Amino acid sequence: MSYIRCQVCGQRASIRMRQHRLNYCKDHFLEWMLKHTDSTIQKYRMFGRNTRVLVAISGGKDSLALWDILWRLGYHADGFYIDLGIDEGLDYSSQSRQFAEQFATSRNLALTVIDFKKEYGESIPTLAARTQRGKGKPCSICGMVKRHLMNQAAEQGGYSVVATGHNLDDEAAVLFSNMLGWNQTQLARQAPALSGRDGMAGKVKPLFRCYERETAAYAFLQRIAYIETECPFSAGSTSISYKHLLNQMEDRSPGTKMRFVMNYLKAKEDGFFHIENTNGQDEGLHPCPVCGQATSNPDMCVFCRTIGGTPPDKAYR
Ligand code: AMP
Ligand code: FES
Ligand code: ZN
Ligand code: ZN
Repeated sequence: MSYIRCQVCGQRASIRMRQHRLNYCKDHFLEWMLKHTDSTIQKYRMFGRNTRVLVAISGGKDSLALWDILWRLGYHADGFYIDLGIDEGLDYSSQSRQFAEQFATSRNLALTVIDFKKEYGESIPTLAARTQRGKGKPCSICGMVKRHLMNQAAEQGGYSVVATGHNLDDEAAVLFSNMLGWNQTQLARQAPALSGRDGMAGKVKPLFRCYERETAAYAFLQRIAYIETECPFSAGSTSISYKHLLNQMEDRSPGTKMRFVMNYLKAKEDGFFHIENTNGQDEGLHPCPVCGQATSNPDMCVFCRTIGGTPPDKAYR
């Protein structure tokens, strides 16, 4: 019987990656993922062997796969989980928290948990309902809160860099969206590694060259338990529909998503966009007078304004 063989050992392949023209058995695929991620970290100068890295853990496959890979590679990577209080109906936050905690315990790794509702008095859905007067989804407020709390945790814990589990499919969908709208500011900012500055930690995406299918295969083959359901608010989002579209193109022409993202980065490097590559060093930033994080708003940052404008320890505890 003929079957596809691992190109290293000749055994039956567990994964075929047409976009890379690579076929591997389980062991050689897991080994390739470690090497591939390490080469991304080094190529984009994300962090070094002695850097203390804070890994943002959602409880999903990508961020847990990333943490597992960094741990196996011997990097100093601690985890950080934000319990957003999205529990109506599906217990999304409490379940994802359990997966994050279970993973940390199983490998004896340090995980910091921030319970947003306990710290700030309301969950993401109630904060969004209050500030948006019941209109729209909470996703953009949620994203802003996550970014703020990640920076805060990095600053308080003495981490110079925050690593997220964004994969190539995430990057392609965001790029597609920014290009459709010719959103120049976002196009200038989208990068696998953004350097930090006062009041803002560096941000890196070590899995940005891995397809979602690859991170899913890694998590499965490494027997990582993770939350399989998506956030209930993500249903029907434009980013999911863009991912479907890009997958259709990928099916017809393997490597489309990778070329889209990698050639964009190359074009940006070559100055094609005629936009300043700020590399995260945005002009006009100053420290928020309430929390100290960098902001371009004339008074306090969006986070402090949204939650009430008073330092959390005075307002909510
Ligand atoms: P998302 O925006 O949900 O696609 O998540 C992108 C990345 O943000 C994940 O891979 C994680 O690294 C991080 N992240 C998402 N949700 C959380 C959370 N609740 N706590 C900490 N990090 C998170
Ligand atoms: Fe924030 Fe879905 S994870 S709204
Ligand atoms: Zn093999
Ligand atoms: Zn602030």
